[in-house]
Amino acid sequence: TRTPVNVTVTGAAGQIGYALLFRIASGHLLGADVPVKLRLLEIPQGLKAAEGTAMELDDCAFPLLKGIDIFDDPNQAFEGANVALLVGARPRTKGMERGDLLSANGGIFKPQGKAINDHAADDIKVLVVGNPANTNALIAQAAAPDVPAERFTAMTRLDHNRAISQLAKKTGADVTDIKRLTIWGNHSATQYPDVFHAEIAGKNAAEVIGDQAWLADEFIPTVAKRGAAIIEARGASSAASAANAAIDHVHTWVNGTAEGDWTSMGIPSDGSYGVPAGLISSFPVTCKDGKYEIVQGLDVNEFSRARIDASVAELIEERDAVRELGLI
Ligand code: NAI
Repeated sequence: TRTPVNVTVTGAAGQIGYALLFRIASGHLLGADVPVKLRLLEIPQGLKAAEGTAMELDDCAFPLLKGIDIFDDPNQAFEGANVALLVGARPRTKGMERGDLLSANGGIFKPQGKAINDHAADDIKVLVVGNPANTNALIAQAAAPDVPAERFTAMTRLDHNRAISQLAKKTGADVTDIKRLTIWGNHSATQYPDVFHAEIAGKNAAEVIGDQAWLADEFIPTVAKRGAAIIEARGASSAASAANAAIDHVHTWVNGTAEGDWTSMGIPSDGSYGVPAGLISSFPVTCKDGKYEIVQGLDVNEFSRARIDASVAELIEERDAVRELGLI
């Protein structure tokens, strides 16, 4: 029998946590033959609700779930963690300046990064979901100098999945026919969903669509502002779809991308495509044997270049702001 994989989830009592934990426990995160132990981190006010969720997890009698522990101390929660899903974050509230938002999140992601550094397993893989995800990942990574930098990633898979779904709707194709889509840049309204290298049933997506105005005026804003549209419709932010994307991100990272396809992940730049090294930015990546690689050699046309640069400029601003605050 396999040793269970320790999965730490922060913000476990939140709405994404509620949608995420049951799918981890049922085997969707790592694979249908991989036993897991859950380590839940909450703030003291969230502990009781986390205990309630743990009771429900017990009540599912999931064959793969080998334990649930709940903590309000990151040092304990990340002890022996193989996978860490950093979901809990400080949301932006009305009237909050960016500096306040970044410092509040620095207060969460810096100690969590340090706890990962000091207590996680050697093979730790980290996904940051909590917003601003890319910059929170950068803060956590900077606090974990002993962990290889590439183990810190930020989630743009929800954007990736949203873009695939919009393309399928527009063209009448099946979602499974859409490959090689890329989200570039920041998980924010400046993100750039790129279809120029994407394929729809084997044909170039931009050519199949043949309508640059639709791309610029409909597709890109629809994908970039989908989060706000969900809030408007649901009265609450994306939760099950965000949890699903977190599952997809880690599953792909661990189990690999399909031959001929790629995915999008926020990862530390190595300088590829003119993105300054060290920034955590979304790229097209292939995954194999638990490692990812940036897809190289793609032609970036003028339309794409301007949009990638704009999103990267925002990431640079965020990085400079957290640097000034002494968070990295
Ligand atoms: P929520 O407010 O329902 O839950 C957040 C939970 O985190 C709460 O239970 C809270 O007590 C907990 N928490 C706060 N600080 C913590 C800390 N220091 N340690 C442990 N737990 C802590 O929020 P929801 O809807 O679950 O969203 C979580 C985050 O995910 C938000 O930042 C949201 O913006 C982000 N998000 C990111 C997406 C992406 O695509 N990257 C998509 C959707 C949401």
